[in-house]
Amino acid sequence: MSAGTRGGETMRFTLKLLFSLCCLVGLLFLIYCYLGNGEPQGPSGAPSRHPSGQREVPPGTQLYFRALDGNGKKRSNSRIRGQRQRAPVPEEWMHLAVVACGDRVEETVTMLKSAVLFSFKNIKFHIFAEDSLKTEFETKLGKWPQRVSRKVKYQIYPITFPVGNPQEWKKLFKPCAAQRLFLPMLLQGVDSLLYVDTDVLFLRPLDDIWAFLKHFNDTQLAAMAPEHEISKIGWYSRFARHPFYGTTGVNSGVMLMNLTRIRNQQFKNNMIPATLAWGEMLHPLYQKYKNYITWGDQDLLNIIFSFNPETLYVFPCQWNYRPDHCMYGSNCKGAEVEGVSVLHGNRGVYHDEKQPAFKAFYEVIRDYPFDGNLFQSMYFPLQSKFLESVHTLCGRIPQVFLKQIEKTMKMMYERRVVIQARASE
Ligand SMILES: *[C@@H]1O[C@H](CO)[C@@H](O)[C@H](O)[C@H]1NC(C)=O
Ligand SMILES: *[C@@H]1O[C@H](CO)[C@@H](O)[C@H](O)[C@H]1NC(C)=O
Repeated sequence: MSAGTRGGETMRFTLKLLFSLCCLVGLLFLIYCYLGNGEPQGPSGAPSRHPSGQREVPPGTQLYFRALDGNGKKRSNSRIRGQRQRAPVPEEWMHLAVVACGDRVEETVTMLKSAVLFSFKNIKFHIFAEDSLKTEFETKLGKWPQRVSRKVKYQIYPITFPVGNPQEWKKLFKPCAAQRLFLPMLLQGVDSLLYVDTDVLFLRPLDDIWAFLKHFNDTQLAAMAPEHEISKIGWYSRFARHPFYGTTGVNSGVMLMNLTRIRNQQFKNNMIPATLAWGEMLHPLYQKYKNYITWGDQDLLNIIFSFNPETLYVFPCQWNYRPDHCMYGSNCKGAEVEGVSVLHGNRGVYHDEKQPAFKAFYEVIRDYPFDGNLFQSMYFPLQSKFLESVHTLCGRIPQVFLKQIEKTMKMMYERRVVIQARASE
């Protein structure tokens, strides 16, 4: 063997060794990346929460939904980038808040279920609840299949009142409804939020109501629907002994808020000539009107927006559709045209026999088994239950109640076809 060949051999050997080393390093790096991305899951695949409340998105799952979100390609690219940096793009999350006290866990979870079933973007639930309800919430939400719960982060907060006398606030209206007045202060890190009562059901994607935020003009910072469509039979126009918004007042059961703007705004009021910040205004306002208000926090909101009407966006009644809109005859024109978008079963109608049209929705959404078969397991049962309500004025207008949810079901079905087509590509 000549010196030349031996030199060549050594060279080749070194190259081989280098190559193997590179492969090994590459492999180790891949393993590292893979393990680094893995994330502990709750026992039943429930969303596990980081102490800061900022739970990471399980890797690789969001892509699926994101890709279908309008201009698919661009979004899935940005998602991949986001995933590598392990920080969800902030505006991708919608925030939904609810306050639950007493016997309201099942109702609240049914509302949350309706929110997540039809929505495109991810949702963060902010659940304010009495301590005794926390475990029940965790158990119920923990039973959701991974396919659904991966679109959701949630956090459960105790009921707290940052200003004034907590006992007095708790007594105002239902046990803890006044809590929601404090959301701008309690959720400092959240830019915008949809607050709903526990007895609300979404019949179309949450994304659609969320989109109203972008319609706000420069002075608007919250959106609500009128309390009534006809002032002659509306409650505020007949009975209120305090100022209220517009001619019929507003209903606060579905309230969209730009919290950033609420926190920055100075509000006009009738207590002092100067303007006041949101948090400074609540307690004196309550002190001034506590003997005149009937509906608690909703009345306070009406008083505030009566002095600051330019800050309120009023959305049409189909976004907060209540028994009042049909029990004396149909009076929500928007729902007659488009169908009901958000159903609000106040007056306890999900739990008694007075308005079976409302109850039908509650029961089919509550009982939907997450089998992915929305027509079979939700829409057909809904139709047959609805037939049993024709003896009521609300049950006589099925096109109003069913039009929008039927559209939603069709859209969901088409979305699934697209997902399956993509999966088999
Ligand atoms: C809320 O208002 C702030 C301040 O005007 C604005 O920067 C932000 O984009 C708004 N949020 C949404 C979701 O429109
Ligand atoms: C925004 O709309 C409200 C309600 O229509 C109106 O009162 C207010 O003046 C508008 N603000 C601006 C800046 O146009």
